[in-house]
Amino acid sequence: METSGNVTYLNHPLIQHKISILRNKNTGTNEFRQLVEEIAMLEGFEALKDLPLEDVEVETPIETCMTPMIAGRKLAIVPILRAGLGMVEGILALVPSAKVGHIGLYRDEVTFEPHEYYCKLPDPIEERTIVVCDPMLATGGSAVDAITMIKQHGGKNIKFMCIIAAPDGVKKLHEEHPDVQIYVGHLDRCLNENAYICPGLGDAGDRIFGTK
Ligand code: PRP
Ligand code: URA
Repeated sequence: METSGNVTYLNHPLIQHKISILRNKNTGTNEFRQLVEEIAMLEGFEALKDLPLEDVEVETPIETCMTPMIAGRKLAIVPILRAGLGMVEGILALVPSAKVGHIGLYRDEVTFEPHEYYCKLPDPIEERTIVVCDPMLATGGSAVDAITMIKQHGGKNIKFMCIIAAPDGVKKLHEEHPDVQIYVGHLDRCLNENAYICPGLGDAGDRIFGTK
């Protein structure tokens, strides 16, 4: 793990190995979906290490003791549709009681600008730790807009988790939302003329859902 300001690069060998399989154009939908979920779980393990705890009383078969459990309102997981959906089950495996919101955005194929079509967040959003997830942080436009929407609804304690990021996306997200902790599976080289990440893995939504 390597941290630079509020950006954490999750360079664990298991994450790197699984990302390499994702990149392979011959990896099929089934395996791709499974890997996205597993990587999200491994990233979540690190991203959620500061969840607040409180001691509660538990009766073991031996005696009663005070023992820590996660405190406060339940976590909110907010995938950016569509591709972010692929990461939800992996994070839910760690925190099964989490609530799930959804933000629908798609990138215009010509301007690369994000367009919003859906937003539904668990109440009260302002009292929750919020994990926004999307496998790809390319120009950063989608992540920036999604987090702006969450803040407009009152969200405060926000983390953003992606699998592959481009330097432009990390820079833009950090500049626009410096309070947000960013977790990156791998930082790639650059964007191409179509604003796709190089070497990347192609279109994450299409590869998760088997569309073209
Ligand atoms: C992809 C991806 C991100 C976005 C990243 O979604 O899942 O949401 O692009 O690009 P950006 O950082 O330049 O905004 P897309 O718009 O292709 O929609 P989809 O998930 O529905 O396929
Ligand atoms: N969205 C994707 O799915 N892949 C990219 O490389 C960039 C944006």
